[in-house]
Amino acid sequence: MITLKNVTKSFNGNSIVRGIDLSVSEGERIAIIGPSGCGKSTLLRLLMGLQQTDTGQVWIDNEDITQMDIKQLRRMRTKFGMLFQHAALFDSMTVGENVAFPLREILHLPEAEIQARVKDKLLWVEMSGKEHRMPSELSGGQQKRVGLARAIACDPKIILYDEPTTGLDPILSTNIEDLIVKLNKESHTTSIIVTHQISTILRTADKIYLMRDGVLLPPETPESIQESQNPYIKEFISGGLAS
Ligand SMILES: Nc1ncnc2c1ncn2[C@@H]1O[C@H](COP(=O)(O)OP(=O)(O)O)[C@@H](O)[C@H]1O
Ligand SMILES: [Mg+2]
Repeated sequence: MITLKNVTKSFNGNSIVRGIDLSVSEGERIAIIGPSGCGKSTLLRLLMGLQQTDTGQVWIDNEDITQMDIKQLRRMRTKFGMLFQHAALFDSMTVGENVAFPLREILHLPEAEIQARVKDKLLWVEMSGKEHRMPSELSGGQQKRVGLARAIACDPKIILYDEPTTGLDPILSTNIEDLIVKLNKESHTTSIIVTHQISTILRTADKIYLMRDGVLLPPETPESIQESQNPYIKEFISGGLAS
């Protein structure tokens, strides 16, 4: 469903993504972990065509998106939902308007249907009845949940999670992690989670890739990664690199 072949990306002569190969099947939950600044968010943007690759191919459902024009990219992106780091809600819009936004802009649904969907998605993330709140009135965990409701508003096939639990306390993190797993199980969505928080990937992913020096190490499972003898992985697990 998703295949990256030798994808590279530099910024101002700094090589950040140095040749990433990755295959993700439908319904899989994979995590990409690595220290801050290693290029995880960049990789997600390349995947959705929000940023252009320097070289390499990004295949989504048998189409190489690096060859697409703006119109094709826009259509392709409707397959994706993205939970941004810091939730990235629109501050001037209510919770309901935030979730309704992609339904209006992308799906152009009739108003009654939009309201029904907003209600349904808020119920899903356990934020029922909060339609009229402003983002500033919500806690960090609640903002993430609204961000998730907005990400799933259009029922995407693939959900990208950028640091879904960063900045949340352990209980709120667990709550978001449970939602990620529930969403994957109930809707069979493919999930790609990027984070530097090791606890999150152990609870949410089937397959874990460590990003190092712009490439991905061979995949681990939540079990294997904890028993790994690779010194870099051991240091990461122990929290030494997870800054
Ligand atoms: N648009 C951009 N222009 C210049 N540098 C960028 C840009 N986006 C990311 N970078 C740089 O690329 C590196 C990786 O960034 P990022 O993908 O955000 O890392 P991560 O998400 O793993 O913390 C950082 O050094 C960052 O400063
Ligand atoms: Mg990032």
